[in-house]
Amino acid sequence: MLMPYLRRINDSTSTKTYASRTLLFLLDDGTLKPLAIELSLPHPEGDKFGAISTVYTPAERGVEGSIWQLAKAYVAVNDSGVHQLISHWLNTHAVMEPFVIATNRQLSVLHPIHKLLHPHFRDTMNINALARQALINAGGILESTVFPGKFAMELSSVVYKNWVFNEQALPEDLKKRGIAVEDPNSRHGLNLLIKDYPYAVDGLEIWFAIKTWVKDYCSFYYQNDETVQNDAELQSWWKELREVGHGDKKDEPWWSKMETLQDLIETCTIIIWIASALHASINFGQYPFAGYLPNRPTISRRFMPEKGTPEYAELESNPDKTFLKTITSQLQTLLGISLIEILSRHSSDEVYLGQRDTPEWTADEAPLKAFERFAEKLGGIEDKIIEMNNDERLKNRVGPIKVPYTLMYPTSEGGLTGKGIPNSVSI
Ligand SMILES: [Fe+2]
Repeated sequence: MLMPYLRRINDSTSTKTYASRTLLFLLDDGTLKPLAIELSLPHPEGDKFGAISTVYTPAERGVEGSIWQLAKAYVAVNDSGVHQLISHWLNTHAVMEPFVIATNRQLSVLHPIHKLLHPHFRDTMNINALARQALINAGGILESTVFPGKFAMELSSVVYKNWVFNEQALPEDLKKRGIAVEDPNSRHGLNLLIKDYPYAVDGLEIWFAIKTWVKDYCSFYYQNDETVQNDAELQSWWKELREVGHGDKKDEPWWSKMETLQDLIETCTIIIWIASALHASINFGQYPFAGYLPNRPTISRRFMPEKGTPEYAELESNPDKTFLKTITSQLQTLLGISLIEILSRHSSDEVYLGQRDTPEWTADEAPLKAFERFAEKLGGIEDKIIEMNNDERLKNRVGPIKVPYTLMYPTSEGGLTGKGIPNSVSI
């Protein structure tokens, strides 16, 4: 994904960086240990000659230790860019817009699917419009604070070509990434290959809670597949979504045909998942996990020093100075931290998963009861998350510096809390 852009980024922006690959070893205690980092540049004679790659291995002391530190910083630079441009902007904020528009244009406000999805669209168009004014615009904050610079938005829109709606379902995503395999004897029918993987463990609880709620709700209004097929509003909604909203992907073979109740349940579950838990897991940890830039730089301004150069001599005599000259500059750092601090805050009127801001949203008793069960189940997940975070055997849930994983904890107070799953993409 990155290699085709790297030549242009390194030639025409202030960024000097690599495409990175990291090899991690899964230890018996469930933690991951980095074994090697490969940093690659495009071949100066052209891509047909492959890439020019160097492999770095862990070292703690001396100049090798400083080189390993820099190698990790280049990986963090890649990862921060992917996180902000692809995981965050593209995969949650941008892809939700067509669903918001098609729902408003094609479904009556009285339509059951409108009522189901409406809370999950709150403020999304608003925040995306604000983002277009100051964050993702040409010369805006993202171009100034992530390594692809002026290629930032082009890169994320090119990656959209590989976006597959059905793979946004958490179980599909985990299987595609090789983290889970189907297993009828495991919880939720999935065997996690990294058992202590908090995002997957908590995420699957949330995913299946949403799915049960959506199934209970949809089954009340659609008793069979024919009612789905014969719902003209629903069919127009799905057609507009595929052919206009996500029109660049209208010929993709993987779109659901929206012919069965199962199609409707899976589709609505994915929409709610993206808007709520997927976005929350990506958004509200930004300041807590990435607010100290030396740990997680967003740009690199120099290549790795080479032996025999003044930069290498500096690395030997004053490695901290070299490190600071390499990573994000002070001004870019201030801009970037200010942005992620704002993004990581919950508003005081946030509505969380399992809550509605209008209690009279429906008079139908069975859906109301199902919604109560959903809220109860989410409460149980909260208790379970606290319990697991206190279990010393689960090392990845707190990490070596004892920051518990709470990004899938459904509720929160307002402010900067590192937890809470709002219903919608609203910041
Ligand atoms: Fe966001």
